[in-house]
This record gives sequence, C-alpha cells and structure tokens, in this order.
Amino acid sequence: MTTAILSALPEEQGGLVHALAQPERITHAGRAFWRGHLQGQPVVLALSGIGKVAAATTATVLAERFGVARIVFTGVAGGVGEGVQVGDVVVAQDYLQHDIDASPIFPRWEVPGYGGARMVCDPVLSALLLEAAGACLAGAEDICDAQNRPRTHAGLMASGDRFVSTAQESGTLRAALLAAGHDVLAVEMEGAAVAQVCRDYGLPFAAVRTISDRADDSAHVDFAHFVQNVASRYADGIVHRFLQALPK
Ligand code: ADE
Repeated sequence: MTTAILSALPEEQGGLVHALAQPERITHAGRAFWRGHLQGQPVVLALSGIGKVAAATTATVLAERFGVARIVFTGVAGGVGEGVQVGDVVVAQDYLQHDIDASPIFPRWEVPGYGGARMVCDPVLSALLLEAAGACLAGAEDICDAQNRPRTHAGLMASGDRFVSTAQESGTLRAALLAAGHDVLAVEMEGAAVAQVCRDYGLPFAAVRTISDRADDSAHVDFAHFVQNVASRYADGIVHRFLQALPK
C-alpha cells in the first residue's frame, strides 16, 4: 500500500527525498518520481509543478504507473479566510476550483459531470494530517515567536490557475464564494485537480498547506520568503509525523 507524497515545488517537498530509505529515481512524463521508504512506509515522492493541469498529469501517473493507494499533498497556500495567518496550517476538508465557470449551462463553480462544485477529501487521512500538523506546530518554537503562535485550521480550500496577489482580488473571490455558501480558508494552484483525479480513480486524497502569504499585495514577497526559508521544515515535520501514525 504505497502512499504518494505530492508537492508543487522542491521547497515544499523539504528534505523528504534525502530521508528516503532504499531510494530509487524514476522519470516519467518529464517528471522525477522517487520511490523508497519513510518511517517504514512505502512511498513515492513527486513534484507536480505549478497549476492544475501539471498536477492532474502527475496524479494520473501516480495512479496508473505507480499504483499508489492514496495521495497526500503537502505545500503552501495563500490565506484568505478570517484569522488564517502566515505560518498557520490548513488541512483541506474539501476542494473547489475557483476559476471554473460553465454558467449558465451549469451553476457557477460546478465541475460538469461531477454533480457539484466540491471534491471531498478522505476524512481519516485528513484527521491524521491535522494531528500531525498540530504536533509539528507545538514543537516549532524556532519557527515562530511565542506571541504569534501558528494555528491549525480544517476546511474548504480553493484552487485555480492564478497566483492571487492583490487584496482586492482575494477579497472579491472570498466574498463571491461566501455568498454561494463556500467559506474558503486558503487558495493555491493544484489541490482541486488532484482531488478530481483521485475521485476518478477512487483513491483517498488529503492535503495539508502551510500559509505562506495572505494572497494580498505583498503575497509575492511573503511567498518567496516563506518558500525559501520555512516551507521545507513544515513539510518534513508534518509528513514524518503523519507517516508514523499511518497504519502499516
Ligand atoms: N500558493 C501560495 N500562495 C498563493 C497565492 N497567493 N495564490 C495562489 N497560490 C498560492
């Protein structure tokens, strides 16, 4: 029962490749995949690249070529929900694509053929990720100052092929989705595509995202700093704890 650990960027993958026991590098579809063991669990580590199409291709390869039993995404996201701050961790309960629009033929945000907008994440894997994230943050005194303790959140995440980088755009996006009953905590560029592929293949999927920016006018600066300096420590800390807790 192999677990795929998927990230968009190498910094989001952290030191996981270096930590692999019996590492084996395989290239397929222009991507590098690393097979091996972490915490005694068989895993495949992969980089999706950025955006929904790249992520869907990678997830499809993981299902078809590697026959993985589940996919877990680890990476960063822009916080848009109230109180979702840089350094916090969000575990997705479900996903939607904020840039899909087949209206008026289908309701806004509905994925045609799927009967709705939202793709649900696996509750058991998500609970394990939330526990792992909480434990990681509790032991992260070096990452944060005592006044500004990072928090964990669980809820709706939204993906789209845009880096959301103004307060106006993120505010408009959040308000429009909220008016339709979608209370989005964070935005990123891959998760909903992976969730859709996993639904097609009947694979359990879960995602954990550390908040690198507030999807506002300083998002590009905050994102670059966070990815460079912090993201990999979160990835290592959360994924190792998650795999330890995952039944063998
Ligand atoms: N990933 C991290 N920050 C993001 C943002 N502001 N927009 C889209 N994806 C992101």
